[in-house]
Amino acid sequence: MAVIFSGIQPSGELTLGNYLGALRNFLDYQDSDECYYCIVNQHAITVPQDPKELFTNTRRLAALYLAVGLDPKKVTLFVQSEVPEHARLGWVMTTISYVGELERMTQYKDKSQKRGDSIPAGLLTYPPLMAADILLYQTNYVPVGEDQKQHMELTRDLAQRFNRVYGEVFTIPEIKMGVGGARVMSLQEPTKKMSKSDDNQMATIRLLDDEATIVKKIKRAQTDSDNSVHFDKENKPGISNLMGIYAAITKESYDTIEQRYAGQGYGTFKKDVAELLVDTLKPIHERYNELIDSPELDRILDEGALKARETASKTYREVELAMGLHRK
Ligand code: TYM
Repeated sequence: MAVIFSGIQPSGELTLGNYLGALRNFLDYQDSDECYYCIVNQHAITVPQDPKELFTNTRRLAALYLAVGLDPKKVTLFVQSEVPEHARLGWVMTTISYVGELERMTQYKDKSQKRGDSIPAGLLTYPPLMAADILLYQTNYVPVGEDQKQHMELTRDLAQRFNRVYGEVFTIPEIKMGVGGARVMSLQEPTKKMSKSDDNQMATIRLLDDEATIVKKIKRAQTDSDNSVHFDKENKPGISNLMGIYAAITKESYDTIEQRYAGQGYGTFKKDVAELLVDTLKPIHERYNELIDSPELDRILDEGALKARETASKTYREVELAMGLHRK
């Protein structure tokens, strides 16, 4: 049985990218493996958050984790800040990280660019906290989208560095990317990834968008003037992105999709993509609405935090002993 860990930031409404790149893949492991799924609220505060919104988004994300089909009897679902070992090991990982390697992270470069002279230091030290999340559970596999590849490589480097200096404490984790959907692009600028924090509402499908909104967003998605459903990421990024979404949901190959839509133009294809999305998201909406105000949600998160702490505190104790951070 392998250990699986992944996390999502409660920093806004989840997108189709989060779903196809990560959340949906979390389900693959729950019957066979030991799974820890986390709401990483301490990562979210590396950029300013409105406290009320952060509070609400945390609860919403928990409901969504369950609404996609994660079973709390099989997986440990919890909030990062309720397991203090994350921040504690995060600090330790920061002390063995080099400023240069943190400055090279593309996510840091992108996010810090937007902040002028006031770059929060937490943006720079975000990856050591992510490493701590993963290493606390002696994780074997981390299902994430492609944008987390660099952070995962750093996590492995830090784990190896620690083990080399202080002895074998950590399991070295591996990244697991889904076959389709590892990188869903913006509907308006299809060379850029679809992101929770995009200001242009037309650029992202939100998991909780209603039917009319989904249809409108797909209809207005950027394409080219070819009007031929053909996969070519370089020259036809817009239609290729829609084909990627279609393929990720149906698990069909691009060849099959091209043949089906040969000579039919973008209108028909877009209508079908929208329909597929509506059908996929509808059952998630229904379960979400049942869960969001239920006391059950709190019970699940309380239990999750207790279970996570049990494992995390064992690893953290090993770290203290290895580093001489203990007194007794
Ligand atoms: P976050 O919250 O930005 O995204 C959550 C997950 O969604 C994936 N994702 C995408 N996949 C495909 N296409 C997209 N457009 C897209 N946008 C987002 C992300 O790859 C991710 O898997 N650093 C992480 C959170 C984190 C974490 C961890 C993840 C903190 N600690 C430990 C795994 C393990 C992040 O910012 O995810």
